[in-house]
Order: sequence, then structure tokens, then C-alpha cells
Amino acid sequence: MYKYHCLNPISEVGLERLTEAYVPVSDAKTADAILVRSAGMHDMEFGENLKAIARAGAGVNNIPLEKCAEEGIVVFNTPGANANGVKELVIAGMLLASRDILGGINWVQENEEDGNIAKDAEKAKKAFAGCELEGKKLGVIGLGAIGVLVANAAMHLGMDVYGYDPYVSVESAWKLSRNIHHAKSVDELYKECDYITIHVPAMESTKGMIDSNAISLMKKDVVVLNFARNVLVDEEAMVDALISGKVKHYVTDFPTPIVAGVKGAIVIPHLGASTEESEDNCAKMAVKEMVDYLENGNITNS
Ligand code: MLT
Repeated sequence: MYKYHCLNPISEVGLERLTEAYVPVSDAKTADAILVRSAGMHDMEFGENLKAIARAGAGVNNIPLEKCAEEGIVVFNTPGANANGVKELVIAGMLLASRDILGGINWVQENEEDGNIAKDAEKAKKAFAGCELEGKKLGVIGLGAIGVLVANAAMHLGMDVYGYDPYVSVESAWKLSRNIHHAKSVDELYKECDYITIHVPAMESTKGMIDSNAISLMKKDVVVLNFARNVLVDEEAMVDALISGKVKHYVTDFPTPIVAGVKGAIVIPHLGASTEESEDNCAKMAVKEMVDYLENGNITNS
């Protein structure tokens, strides 16, 4: 018998795959394994039976990795399982930044009671005019599962895509995304692109990567998208750049008080992976990894 504890509700589709050998427990301290989505575990005391933590998602910054390593607890994550959900929201973010869809929707809501919508539609067309993505340059920093999907989708929209990733060789990235331009440095990407999206993990070396220096290299009216982790961007510098007009839009999936409400910021409450499909994929992968470790000692995505 294995005892598992779900620290956050995760998709039932994953849990349904567990055999009778697995028993859910309400007390995490008695569990052999913990399944977690994005709940913070840094203050948590672990029970003596705990052998594995399976994170249904990619980022593991909610898990105390050093403590787990010291205590011999294996941590799994599910890279790529929610990549399609994130990719689709990044594309939506670019569209929200380029076409004033939200402005238009609000205008209709505000004016519908007066019955003037049809009469004023011409004014609205001008007021909410935008620009198209086709032909614009998109810079993708980080060519992992999400970055490559975003690059491919953007190419299908007719964008000219620049990729930069210090850890992915040109050859392997070319196999994944045949028409991508390989920026020789991240600075080249900053200088060239109209839209810049970041898809790297939060590590000491990437924290604050998009800072005032990086922003100073970018084109005026650039759109910056962050669906990876908020710490990758120096948000104070980003707010200054939005206020000065250097950055036209900062589209972020992290609703921090620093950026929320700032003109030009399009702030989403971390919905990148909030799709039925992504939730199911992550839960299935996390459960599979947990089972394979507890029963066979196999370690994948640790
Ligand atoms: C992830 O790390 O996979 C994403 O942040 C999505 C999430 O867990 O909500």
C-alpha cells in the first residue's frame, strides 16, 4: 500500500489511473508521496515516510529542492505537459497587445444602454485600430518545450521569428523550428524584435534578466511577454519603461502589485496552463512518474 496526499486538487483524470494499492491520506505527514500543483511547500515539515513529490506542472520554485535533496526525497515535474496551453495564451497575449480587443469590448458594454453603438461604430473602428502580427519580428528567449511551440505558432501567423537559447544547440533547434533565425546573442534579439517573449526557468542566472539595460537595447514600442516567471523581469524597470513609452505593452501572466494597473500592462492571473487539457496532461504525467518511482525505482523528469 502506498499513501499519497494531494496538496492541491489535481485533475481526477490522473488520479483515476491509480490502482487499489494507492490510498489518499488527508495528513501529508503520513504520506509516501505528495502530489502538488502550485501550492508553496517551503514552510512544510515532511513526514518520515515521504519519498517523492510530484509537481503537476513545470516550475518547481514552490518546492524546497535543497531540503528534498538533503532528505533523499525525489522531486518530479511535468515539463511540456502544459506547453500547448501556455503557447495558446502567449499567442492570445500578442493579439491582445496588437488589437485593442479589451478596449473594444469595454466600449460596447459601456455604450450598449444608450443604443448608440451602430451610430458610433465608425468612431470605435478608429479609436481601437491596431496592427497585425504578420511580418513583425518575434524574439523567443528559451527554446524549450514552450518556446519552440510559440516559435512555430508565430511562424504560422507569418511572423519573422528570432530564437535565442544558450543551452540549445543551433542544430537541435533547427530540427524543431526550421525557419527560425538564430540570434547570436540575446542582445541581438533585443535590438531586432518588435515582440519579445521569454520562456526560461527562474534560476540565479536568469533572475532579473530583462532589466533596464536589456530594455534600453529594445526598440521603442516593443511588446514584452512573460508567461514564464515574474522574477525574470525587473518589474520596477518595466514599469518605468511603460510610463516613459519605451515599452508599449508588458503582457504578464503574473499579477504582481507592481505591474497591475499600470497603463500598457496587460496582466493575467497565471492562466497559462489553466486549460482542461493541460491540467489532465500534467496530472497524468505526475501520477505516472510517482508510480514508476514508488514501484520500480525509476526516476524521470527529476
Ligand atoms: C508551470 O510551472 O507549469 C506553470 O506555471 C503552470 C502552473 O503550474 O500553473
